[in-house]
Amino acid sequence: MKKPLHIVVLAAGQGTRMRSNLPKVLHVVGQKPMLGHVLDTARALNADTIHIVQGHGGEAVRTQFAAADVKWAHQAQQLGTAHAVQQAMPGIPDDATVLVLYGDVPLIQPGTLQGAVDAADKSLALVTAQVVDPSGYGRILRDKKSSVKGIVEENDASPAQKKIREINTGFVAAPAKRMRTWLSKVKNNNAKKEYYLTDIVALAVRDKVKIVTVSAAESEILGVNDRRQLAQVERLLQRRQADKLMRDGLALRDPERFDLRGELSAGRDCRLDVNIVLEGRVVLGDNVSIGAGCYLKDCEILDGSEILPNSVLEGARIGRGCHVGPFARLRPGTVLSDRARVGNFVETKQAVIGEASKVNHLSYVGDAEIGRDVNVGAGTITCNYDGANKHKTVIEDGAFIGSDSALVAPIRIGAGATIGAGSTINKDAPPGKLTLSRAKQFTLDGWKRPAKKSK
Ligand code: UD1
Ligand code: CA
Repeated sequence: MKKPLHIVVLAAGQGTRMRSNLPKVLHVVGQKPMLGHVLDTARALNADTIHIVQGHGGEAVRTQFAAADVKWAHQAQQLGTAHAVQQAMPGIPDDATVLVLYGDVPLIQPGTLQGAVDAADKSLALVTAQVVDPSGYGRILRDKKSSVKGIVEENDASPAQKKIREINTGFVAAPAKRMRTWLSKVKNNNAKKEYYLTDIVALAVRDKVKIVTVSAAESEILGVNDRRQLAQVERLLQRRQADKLMRDGLALRDPERFDLRGELSAGRDCRLDVNIVLEGRVVLGDNVSIGAGCYLKDCEILDGSEILPNSVLEGARIGRGCHVGPFARLRPGTVLSDRARVGNFVETKQAVIGEASKVNHLSYVGDAEIGRDVNVGAGTITCNYDGANKHKTVIEDGAFIGSDSALVAPIRIGAGATIGAGSTINKDAPPGKLTLSRAKQFTLDGWKRPAKKSK
């Protein structure tokens, strides 16, 4: 029978070097806190129970991650990693496999850990990595037959041991019963006066329990202690996401300047220029192109549409063959039908813009329903707010709104109507006719521009 898997996530550290009021594991990588990534990984491994050992800022961590499959253990004082794991052991049955994860090491891959879990059926499994610069890490000690005989921490290592480049990532898995016994025997007679989890290796050697190592890539095992490392981990996550998207056929101009903080689904031949930020759920059809510097959140953009540089789209649905931007701002509830165009310095909100209609320059279109083949001239404003309530503007098919018009809602512009430039329209305009409201133009004869008095 398959043993139950209990995962212990260490998250009690203070995170002093973050210099933040937020507990370290709540700092965000991609779209979610580091601890969220670790829990996703734990769930991907089908853990029966996830134990989170928390200490500093535990309250905030608990409220954010309350879930049925999570059990909380409290470590009042940070006496070391072995002591931390021990806090969760009362909730773990003897017949389980225990796997230790870290709330501040968010990029570890389930596949790597699965190797450790499988090996830990009867053995002690360690995840190790070959790194360029091993300083700060515990080093893996092997005998002549290359069997692991212990781990020595940086502070306790001899100059020769410090040269070892195989390091302990901290991830370990072992049978629960063994783990419990070993943890009770760990002493704190070391440089830091801490109970080191790594000391269970020497205890396993003494008990003649086989030690298996599973290797991880350096990019998976990076921990976060400060803001620099947080940014480093963010880049690694972004690069991982970018590589996957490119394998699936997405054209990224530069994967190093790509930020996805959510989910992206893209059809064939979509092209993304540099410095684009995508949030929430973004869905692209085929042949969609996004220009440099765009921000897209929770959007759907269909086949052949083009979003030009520096546009901000949130909660918008864009049909086929549309053109948006540059410098357009589409707010929630914006719907563009096929071949519609929204140009520079145009803001839309709760606006449906019909097929092949154009709002090309410097306009505000809010709470509006625009039919097909409508031309909204430069500087047109829907006056949707009377200071208390929002009102709707309806512009029917084929209407032409002259530049600099103010449409005072609620209002309806009939099909094929023309509104003269510069009009303030506060009554419905009939279909097919020219409507305008404009002060009469006149010229004063004999008028002179005032001149400065001479002294
Ligand atoms: C640990 C390992 C080291 C390994 C390195 C990988 C030990 C003794 N050493 O060293 O071999 O190379 O990780 O990054 O395990 N924590 C608690 N409670 C405690 C102490 C720590 O929850 O009492 C948590 C910390 O928040 C942190 C993690 O455990 O997330 C690791 O602790 P830390 O003290 O940073 O261990 P390292 O010195 O990095
Ligand atoms: Ca550390």
